[in-house]
Amino acid sequence: MSEPTQPTAGPATDLTGGPAMDLTARAAALDAGDPLAGVRDRFVLDDTVYLDGNSLGALPTAVLPRLTDVVTREWGRLRIRSWEESGWWTAPERIGDRIAPLIGAAPGQVVVGDSTSVNVFKALVAAVRMVPEDRTEILVDATTFPTDGYIAQSAARLTGRTLRAVPAADMGAAAGPRTAVALVNHVDYRTGRLHDLPGTTAALHAAGALAVWDLCHSAGALPVALDAHGVDLAVGCTYKYLNGGPGAPAYLYVRRTHQPRFDSPLPGWNSHADPFAMAPGYTAGEGAVRGRVGTPEMLSLLALDAALDVWDGVSVADVRAKSLGLSDFFLECVAALVPAGRVESVTPADHAARGSQVSLRCQDAGDVMRELTALGVVGDFRRPDILRFGFTPLYTRYADALRAAHVLAAVLEKASGSSATRGEAGRSPADGDRRAQGGGEPLVAAGGATEHRPHHPAGHRTEDGTRSAAGGPAGHRTEDPAPHLTPGPTEGTP
Ligand SMILES: Cc1ncc(COP(=O)(O)O)c(C=O)c1O
Repeated sequence: MSEPTQPTAGPATDLTGGPAMDLTARAAALDAGDPLAGVRDRFVLDDTVYLDGNSLGALPTAVLPRLTDVVTREWGRLRIRSWEESGWWTAPERIGDRIAPLIGAAPGQVVVGDSTSVNVFKALVAAVRMVPEDRTEILVDATTFPTDGYIAQSAARLTGRTLRAVPAADMGAAAGPRTAVALVNHVDYRTGRLHDLPGTTAALHAAGALAVWDLCHSAGALPVALDAHGVDLAVGCTYKYLNGGPGAPAYLYVRRTHQPRFDSPLPGWNSHADPFAMAPGYTAGEGAVRGRVGTPEMLSLLALDAALDVWDGVSVADVRAKSLGLSDFFLECVAALVPAGRVESVTPADHAARGSQVSLRCQDAGDVMRELTALGVVGDFRRPDILRFGFTPLYTRYADALRAAHVLAAVLEKASGSSATRGEAGRSPADGDRRAQGGGEPLVAAGGATEHRPHHPAGHRTEDGTRSAAGGPAGHRTEDPAPHLTPGPTEGTP
């Protein structure tokens, strides 16, 4: 189920310090023993507890000087010469090769450009074109991030295939002789559930189908081993755990053995074998370049290039261990501090099925997240009732997880009108962990039997399928900026 290099336990198991240690001391000990602690200095951060890196990663310090140079010298002085002299033309492949180790890909298989949505389209249509015509259906995971579902519907219409929504866990079993390709999210954006990439890919291949994985919520947060597991195609964004910035270009992975057969539905001039021949007819270039379309979004591409510097010397295994350590510790703090029954985790307790976020179901989630944000704890809210807290191991500290739980507890107590308020929102963790020390209630069921996964037998899941009246004043932009919806507070992040 888990990736081969994935540890089964985070540092929390190594640094618990025993039951006598209170949460504040535990957080301090965990932070002191954190091999990634120094990496936080590579980011521009402030006193905010920023737990929304699963939507928009924080700004790496290397980006501003690099962009200043790109704008003033490469664009300002060299102008057109930079396409060659500053390496602009080949940047999509070069930067793809920088992302490759983070997703378990050998060089020459990843190209950066366009949005994830556009790359989903390229990948799905190209996959359909790689398999025999009697493979007449496309599968999509039933709780997919909406854009993948929308694009899959269109790709199915364009290629004359049918689209079937299947829970990600059942994808392998659902594939049959009629299945052309399945599109699966590696981590569910809503629950934070990590899906079984090795097992599902193997089962799809056994059925003769191809596997396309959406890595938006996994790349940069946990080990991904595309080559090792024979993944056919994959896509992902770079503005979450890769910290590339708002609207940073996405990437497309095309397995080397498939590249000669990758027949792009968007064969723009940048993917031509000889773009400057300006030939009337299209001849595809060789390799990952086939995934390109038109002129790259150079400023954001080079911001991403600089952002990737934060990975220098960083082990993805350490990132995974800390990610699990942080989410374990946060769940423990929430269980200890938050009034019993007020929130319910929908994120799996099982490490092998957990991404890098904790999603808490909470009836008044929109109001609660608005309060949290005002008090300096930034996560986000997904309708109708999900609070999302993303843990970016490169810059999140255990003390941040604890402070977030304290503030959450205070906000929930205030909202419940509880007379047993234990402290004002935003108080220092040093004020004590009384409930923890007194053996606080266990958090109501992390995952497992109590997880409420929405069922959508017909059609893929879309966020507004459960639309509530939770709209509100437009907040900052988030994950699903669907134009037909007015985002509620803290909803506006991808
Ligand atoms: C899993 C997943 N897929 C796709 C997208 C959309 O990507 P884009 O807006 O870059 O097309 C998101 C955005 O957050 C996402 O979380």
